[in-house]
Formats: sequence, structure tokens, C-alpha cells
Amino acid sequence: ERMFAEEVEAILRLKRERNAVILAHNYQTPEIFHGVADIRGDSLALAREARGLDAEVIVMAGVHFMAETVKLLNPDRTVLIPDARAGCSLAEGITAENVRALKAAWPGVPVVTYVNSTAAVKAESDICCTSGNARRVVESLGVPRVIMIPDEFLARNIEAETGIEMITWPARCEVHERFTPDEIRQYRRLHRGVRVIAHPECPPEVVAEADFSGSTAQMIAYVAEKRPEKVLLVTECSMSDNLSALYPETRFVRPCNLCPHMKRITLSRIRAALETLQTEVLIPAELQAPARRSVERMLAV
Ligand code: 13P
Ligand code: SF4
Repeated sequence: ERMFAEEVEAILRLKRERNAVILAHNYQTPEIFHGVADIRGDSLALAREARGLDAEVIVMAGVHFMAETVKLLNPDRTVLIPDARAGCSLAEGITAENVRALKAAWPGVPVVTYVNSTAAVKAESDICCTSGNARRVVESLGVPRVIMIPDEFLARNIEAETGIEMITWPARCEVHERFTPDEIRQYRRLHRGVRVIAHPECPPEVVAEADFSGSTAQMIAYVAEKRPEKVLLVTECSMSDNLSALYPETRFVRPCNLCPHMKRITLSRIRAALETLQTEVLIPAELQAPARRSVERMLAV
């Protein structure tokens, strides 16, 4: 605890000295989420808030694709990621070449790309989406069929909601693919009356067992509004940790799964990033305009 306090104090001082802001995803640990973050949110909120920040330095307490999105929207700022190895199984699950092959196989079918992807993949896409706006983005296209990449499960879940046919790619979130419908049913038996909220990166059979499905921010909004007595957040572990500090009267039933990439971000690495201005996130010049266009099109929906 004392170590945390010292780190937090050092980070707050460095933020002032560097004119820096810290953006934190909802999966960051409580000492980051509650202790040092200036802006917290799901991928959509972080992308929106990242637009036109006036800080000189932006630290992304999250994974690499999130830092890239911030850099796309703030090309003139220094964008730092405290651990450059903080990746994502979805972003790593597809390449720009894979997207070109899909487009060649399905000419004229729009490519909707989940923000959990590299800038190179975004640059090959028509529009981006997040779990918070996927339905709206897909419906805004007004077509009966889309290529939705890279998350197979998100695509299937949105297909079930919209009836729009999805051409998918076999990439998955290594955190959410592990939940099973059996496990959910077991927890319902053990904890009578528990509300079950599942992230749409979960398999469709798991989402079918849930009372509600939405992005991490939509999950938080559900808890804030309904104040369930018992809730099972079928997602990354830090969500329950962060929310139990805010809603002590709600019981957060675990199981959860850890995201090893998100967990690479620690207070000491955030402090080091602010001290050394490393690692800076840069995007190859030729990718900037096309990747930015896909993100901007999403934000305009
Ligand atoms: P959201 O916060 O946008 O729901 O995304 C979840 C996630 O897994 C991000 O990596
Ligand atoms: Fe990627 Fe899943 Fe980790 Fe999110 S939770 S960063 S989607 S691996």
C-alpha cells in the first residue's frame, strides 16, 4: 500500500511536470483506474475522449491498439504506452494481407473492423466499430451483408441482434473465449437471483445465457442503474475490482479471467513512461490517413 502511495504521488507530480494525461481502460487495476487515471472508459469512450486533448503527452494505460487509435486522432501529441508488449489476441489475429484477401473474395462487401486491430488493418477497412457501437455502425451501412473482422464471436453476436449476415474471421479474445455456458448455469444455481452480464466478445452460447450484454462501459452503466444485489460480470477481472469499490452494496460474484496484456501496465511502468517518455507509439506515414478515416467514420455514426 505504501509503495502504491509513493508511486501514485510520483505519477501525479510527473503528470503536472510533463503536461500529461493518463487514459485508462476499464480493465486496468484499481490503483491505476482509481489512483492515477484522468479519463476512464471503454474503447469507444477512450477514442472519443482522445480527440483533441490539449495535453502534450498522453499515456495509454491499456493495450497497444488503443494507443494507436489515440495517436491516429492526435498525430501531433506524444502518445506513450508503458509496456509496448501489451498486445491483444484479436489485433494479432489478422494481418492487412488477410483483409486484402477477404476483400478480393467478397468484392463490394463493406469491411467493418473492430477497433481491436492494428493500424495496418484499420487502413484496409471501410469503417471501425467498438463493442459499444457495433450494432449502430453495422446498421448505418444499410446493406444485408458485411465483412466483420477480426472477432468472430462479436460478429456472430451482432449478426444475431441485427439479422445482417456476417462474413467472419477466426480470431478471438483469449480472455472471453474461455467462458462456457455450463459455467454460467452453475453460477446461477450457486447464487440464486444473480444478474449475469456478458461482454459480446464471449461465445454466442454464453451471451445467450446472460441477462444483458454490452461493452465494458455499458456493463458499468447497467450496475450503476440497476444496483443488483448480486452480479456476475462475465469479463476481465479488474472490472469487478474497480466496481466493487464504487458499489459496496452489490456483491460481485467471480469467476473472471485475467487479460495478461492489460496486466502488463503497472504503476511503476506508468511512472517510468512519464520519466523517460518511452515507449512512444508511432504510426507509419502511409497508414495514417486511411486508418484515421476508418476511425473518424465510426465516430461520425
Ligand atoms: P470495451 O471496453 O470497448 O468493451 O472492450 C473490451 C476489451 O476487451 C478491450 O480490449
Ligand atoms: Fe484483447 Fe481480450 Fe485482452 Fe481485450 S481482453 S485486450 S480483447 S485479449
